[in-house]
Amino acid sequence: MIDQYGRKITYMRISVTDRCNFRCVYCMPLEGVQLRPREEYLTHDEIVEVVRAGVKLGIDRIRLTGGEPLVRAGIVDLCRDIKAAGVTDLSLSTNGLMFAKMAPDLKRAGLDRVNISLDTFRPERLKQIARIVTDPQPILDAIDAALELEMHPVKINMVVMRGWNDDEVVDMARLTLERPLHVRYIEVMPFSEAYEFAPDVLVPSAEIRERLMDAFGDLEPVREGVPGNGPARYWRIPGALGTVGFISAMTECFCGGCNRVRLSADGKINPCLGHVTEHDLKPVLRDPTHTEDDLIAAMAAAIHKKPLEHNFDQVEGEYRLRIMHGIGG
Ligand code: GTP
Ligand code: 5AD
Ligand code: SF4
Repeated sequence: MIDQYGRKITYMRISVTDRCNFRCVYCMPLEGVQLRPREEYLTHDEIVEVVRAGVKLGIDRIRLTGGEPLVRAGIVDLCRDIKAAGVTDLSLSTNGLMFAKMAPDLKRAGLDRVNISLDTFRPERLKQIARIVTDPQPILDAIDAALELEMHPVKINMVVMRGWNDDEVVDMARLTLERPLHVRYIEVMPFSEAYEFAPDVLVPSAEIRERLMDAFGDLEPVREGVPGNGPARYWRIPGALGTVGFISAMTECFCGGCNRVRLSADGKINPCLGHVTEHDLKPVLRDPTHTEDDLIAAMAAAIHKKPLEHNFDQVEGEYRLRIMHGIGG
């Protein structure tokens, strides 16, 4: 599927729930999400139907996001059915809390790989950032489980915030020295409560790269890249088994090469993270007379209109508060 600006869309991020067992300051309000009637959310079968239609449109890479995707009941079965729909790369973004226990079942169901959030090694800081959890050990166990099950490449996401956790960027990079881990530093985007403080705490990727060079010497660009579908650019500490990556959402515009669209837990196609435009698929999915072609046509129309680039400044109101936990980053 090619959009109106000639970009090839092959990747869909599906938010399977807007609920989460963390309350990260840059994503989720402290009180959590408001409970909404069950019927507002897509069912298992509806999600699988959208994936099948997506595969026909050439979207064969799927990432499951949230909220926290592992809190959705039936997530293992959902992985199995999504993978069976013809998906070549099925991945999941998780906060890690529940992952280690579920990992073998997820792997058997067809999950190819996983990205795990780890913003800090320190309990008191985790408490400040993720707010309702304090112990980073389950996240470290999740990383071990993904490596043991060879779900390569195993990626770690760190949202870097000045004064909160930025003095840990070098420690985080050390994770890549002896194990094939890919640590990605993410520039904080102005959503949820971070809208108020993101400009003050933003640490540009260039600055982090310099700090890593001070600690480890020159970094080698990883030309062949690390397999993935997202916007990260990768480098290697000389001799390291893994890599360090940068997701410079605020200081570099990667929209020109964007390959993805999003599906929210309540069934809306969002062609761009930085725009309010959404296209609700529920009316088509829930029309008892609809055919697969009707769904494909609705999806194709939404994707075709994908905007040229994000405009975070124009994202306002309810949507700004909902975007990360409701649309899945
Ligand atoms: P792979 O490269 O396939 O491993 O995945 P990914 O990096 O796209 O996925 P992940 O869910 O780990 O996201 C990492 C960060 O990238 C999150 O902060 C996302 O919000 C951000 N991100 C992913 N896609 C986009 C995008 O299109 N625009 C912006 N601004 N940020 C994005
Ligand atoms: N800015 C940058 N990254 C964010 N994420 C969630 N909210 C934000 C934000 N405001 C990240 C999470 C997770 C990924 C799916 O999105 O840390 O790693
Ligand atoms: Fe949950 Fe991830 Fe949002 Fe944190 S960033 S509150 S772990 S969905």
